[in-house]
Amino acid sequence: MRKFGLIGYPLSHSFSKKYFTNKFEKEEIADAQYELFPIQSIQELPKLLRDNPDLVGLNVTIPYKEQVIPFLHHIDPKAHAIGAVNTIRIEKGKLTGYNTDYFGFKDSLVKFIGANAFPEKALILGTGGASKAVKAALDDLNIHHKFVSREPVEGQLSYESIASSPNHVLTSLLIINTTPLGMSPNTDTLPKLPYEHLTPNHMLYDLVYNPLKTAFMQKGIEAKCWVKNGLEMLHGQAEKSWEIWNR
Ligand SMILES: NC(=O)c1ccc[n+]([C@@H]2O[C@H](COP(=O)([O-])OP(=O)(O)OC[C@H]3O[C@@H](n4cnc5c(N)ncnc54)[C@H](OP(=O)(O)O)[C@@H]3O)[C@@H](O)[C@H]2O)c1
Repeated sequence: MRKFGLIGYPLSHSFSKKYFTNKFEKEEIADAQYELFPIQSIQELPKLLRDNPDLVGLNVTIPYKEQVIPFLHHIDPKAHAIGAVNTIRIEKGKLTGYNTDYFGFKDSLVKFIGANAFPEKALILGTGGASKAVKAALDDLNIHHKFVSREPVEGQLSYESIASSPNHVLTSLLIINTTPLGMSPNTDTLPKLPYEHLTPNHMLYDLVYNPLKTAFMQKGIEAKCWVKNGLEMLHGQAEKSWEIWNR
């Protein structure tokens, strides 16, 4: 039996366990199982690996995506640049870390843009963990971007500056929400943007996937923009983990 699992804390609502358990059943993968490992400190990882010698792959979630890095033997260059790991491949006791949020987002964004003209400029709302994978994908796709933050540091924009200078929204045809605003149960919250400046040429990508249509996306729909939720990215990052574990 090949064992896979998720480390994080707490792990009450795990998408990954449901996703992989369904996948193993549906695709008749009989030699694999997926378990939750809600460890209270990352220091518990070495013992967890000793106690589970049949573990061949792990997903990593909050709060360990960065803390896990010193425990790895190798790190994929992209995950290193992003500074966060959400997938670990375990081979002969050696741990290699990857960031599959990056792949999940990039592939989904390219599909979303589809036959439209590639946007030259983008705004990334929020500066947390997921925003770093988004930034790496935009860098690779040569889409210039600015972060928007409640507490901007040098080079970042504040929500107030965006509200007072419509040019930011007018010229950034791609706007990506990487904040948790709009996520269930707070479904009526949304980033503070001058939505009146949106045009049918704008593309709004929301990393939030629950609900499937967020308040941010709804604003885009009202302005006839292209909109996308984070579900495809979520499935994409899980499938990329599976691919990495089966290489
Ligand atoms: N679809 C997927 O596959 C996928 C993958 C990863 C994450 N996500 C989703 O993406 C979201 C962010 O995840 P994360 O791990 O990056 O979270 P995070 O580390 O907590 O970061 C979120 C960022 O959003 C901003 N923010 C937080 N609360 C806010 C508020 N009340 N108002 C305005 N801005 C706020 C903050 O940036 P500032 O302090 O700079 O404003 C914060 O750093 C979550 O909803 C998560 O479920 C989806």
